[in-house]
Amino acid sequence: MVGPFLPDDEKLPAIREALPSTAAGIYLNTGTCGPLPRETARAMAELEGIELRTGRADIAYWKDSEERMNEARAAVAAVLGTEPRRIALTHATTEGMNVATWAIDWRAGDKVVTTSLEHGGALAPLWALRSRLGVDVAIADIGVGGDPAEVLAALDRAITPETRLVCVSHVSWATGARLPIAEIVALAHSRGALVAVDGAQAVGAIPVSVEELDADFYAVPGQKWLLGPDGTGALYCAPAVLDRPRLTFAGYASFESLGLDLEGKLRLDARRFEVAGYHQPSVLGFARSTAWLSMYVGLNWIHERTARLAGEAAAMLAAVPGVEVITPRDHMAGLVTFRIAGWTPGPALRELSQRTLVIARTIPPLDAIRISVGFFNTDHELRRFRDGVALVAAHTPETIPHRPRIEVLRGGLE
Ligand SMILES: Cc1ncc(COP(=O)(O)O)c(C=O)c1O
Repeated sequence: MVGPFLPDDEKLPAIREALPSTAAGIYLNTGTCGPLPRETARAMAELEGIELRTGRADIAYWKDSEERMNEARAAVAAVLGTEPRRIALTHATTEGMNVATWAIDWRAGDKVVTTSLEHGGALAPLWALRSRLGVDVAIADIGVGGDPAEVLAALDRAITPETRLVCVSHVSWATGARLPIAEIVALAHSRGALVAVDGAQAVGAIPVSVEELDADFYAVPGQKWLLGPDGTGALYCAPAVLDRPRLTFAGYASFESLGLDLEGKLRLDARRFEVAGYHQPSVLGFARSTAWLSMYVGLNWIHERTARLAGEAAAMLAAVPGVEVITPRDHMAGLVTFRIAGWTPGPALRELSQRTLVIARTIPPLDAIRISVGFFNTDHELRRFRDGVALVAAHTPETIPHRPRIEVLRGGLE
């Protein structure tokens, strides 16, 4: 591990060298897609070459594929603090949230509760649930302040004895607020409801122990903070969920055996929720990126560094006149969401991209800009970004000088 043994000024260049796209700009958009490790891309290309040359149909390939899937489940399980048999591989967070939503035997009068800060990946399955089965979806207004007591109070009002499922993000994609998941789970369980957590902005950014949180489902993407390829993800399924064989989609992978007479033996582990085939280079890439983080970089170091850098980024931005940081600084992860007075987020981010080469995104429902601060970012990058924000904030779209001053704000690794 490069982790504990090297000082940051030696470790960081090695890490950034292993993540080539960190040199493409100030990479502050891991919340959309993280930078791919060189090692991951190399392993995927190698497997693609093998597939091209020897095909994908022989028994050895099939056996290797099974091992790769096991490796990916084990790598994710290690990051989530659980066992591989509780992990189903998926193709996205959204797929995991769909599986969780449809793993319940919905009945007339049932209710599902979610919050006002969810991503479409959690909301879309609820839309389908409501339109297909008429299930009542209650949206608890948790505001943007992220105060845990207020979040809990809002959910306390929303969760009733009719609630069968609570769908909630660990970290809001919009405000970057970290929600009190363990307390939400305890509240929901005390009223007989299951909890499906959207972990898209949490896993790989903050420590997550699904068993300590006691979540029933916990959905994870590969492509964000775990730095894996697109089209990968995983779903943690608690023992309580695995004890009830409720499937909506099922495939041959769901069964130990399935006869022509439809007599079947369902798998006892989370693989029952895996329906069809997987793109093997992506599964390999997902496993490699995840293992690279935990075995090469070190999860504790990642979490501590992300917390420090993201906290400092929020503080630096908050100190810029005209900037309003929306992210609650005492309950945050790696995301920082902010507004610049006098600017709408699209033009402001365009200016920032031109002047600092930042890679970030806007959050349209909040009229804000979001940056995702990763362990691979440098203090110098964050200061350059802050300087760019200060420049934009000191002007209006009408008064800002037209010529981009990249040469002033651009700089190397410090
Ligand atoms: C909180 C949250 N949930 C879900 C998603 C969707 O993730 P995926 O593309 O893995 O389904 C995102 C980001 O795109 C997100 O930020």
